[in-house]
Amino acid sequence: MDLKQLKKDAETGISLIKNTLDLEKWRIKYLGRKSALSLFFNSLSKLSLKEKKEQGQKANAIRQLFSSLYEKKKNDLESNLSFSSNFIDITQPGEKIHQGHLHPLTSTLNDITNSFQKIGFSIIEGPEIETEYYNFDALNIPAGHPAREMWDTLWVKSENKNGESKMLLRTHTSPMQVRFMETNEPPFRIIVPGKCFRYEATDTSHEIQFHQIEGLMVGENISLSNFKAIIEEVVKDIFKQKVLIRFRPSYFPFVAPGVEVDIKIKPKTKNQKSKIHNEWLEIMGAGMVHPDLFKRAGYVTNRWQGFAFGLGIERIAMIKYHIDDIRLFFSPDVRFLEQF
Ligand code: PHE
Repeated sequence: MDLKQLKKDAETGISLIKNTLDLEKWRIKYLGRKSALSLFFNSLSKLSLKEKKEQGQKANAIRQLFSSLYEKKKNDLESNLSFSSNFIDITQPGEKIHQGHLHPLTSTLNDITNSFQKIGFSIIEGPEIETEYYNFDALNIPAGHPAREMWDTLWVKSENKNGESKMLLRTHTSPMQVRFMETNEPPFRIIVPGKCFRYEATDTSHEIQFHQIEGLMVGENISLSNFKAIIEEVVKDIFKQKVLIRFRPSYFPFVAPGVEVDIKIKPKTKNQKSKIHNEWLEIMGAGMVHPDLFKRAGYVTNRWQGFAFGLGIERIAMIKYHIDDIRLFFSPDVRFLEQF
């Protein structure tokens, strides 16, 4: 038996092995019960005591070498498996992918505009930087009018050559009423979502920037009861819940009569009791379009009637998602956003 040759063969053989299956074949061949080495051990009994001892020691050394080669290769293959880049252990739990979502204001805005679109309203947009004329004068709020104090204004530095109107950040979406009517003839129904700005000291219900949806519907026989029916429908659609509506008399120089609209949300179940349930909450100002605005738009007198409203989007989102501080909408704190 050429032990040297056997050793050489075994060593080259194992160095080429790349998987556990081949390693097992190798083990059977070199260390198994029918391996050359085992047969060699069996044949030792026929030898003399001296030879037995001498050959036995040599063979034993080789068997130990083979065992350690085998163990080492086995370890190598196993650690290779776990680090190998194309090995996927499908039994391990997956890594959760962090998925973002719409901002609560965006989804509220989408819900509201969708509700209005369902009943035939078109979506129009207007400029955030407005002229003093459209934001105030065209809405019956000339300079010096006490109603200007209702809207603390952020003015924009502008040159105002040739008596041009001063510029400001719109304080509401109402400037789009006259802007739209100047270039469109009734009948129509539109909503104008957008950002508004006020020079406010901020607190839980006041922010310097917020969103409104202006609504304007003009036709030949439009009345405040049409408005009530539409609002009831939309509010029910937004909250997916039965909602009561209440009008309170109010004053805005560009509507007559003017109202403020409150809603009361009925709890779905007896246990659903939070601050917002069974309490009247103000959501918008509204009214019948003042005839002066039709005149400014160049419409024939006494032909058209319409209603207008200005809905606060933050207000709706706060009610819907139980948010108690308007400032959170613009905060960079992701813990706030993760709640939705
Ligand atoms: N623009 C008013 C506001 O900002 C709301 C309003 C809109 C009132 C339309 C009447 C008609 O408060």
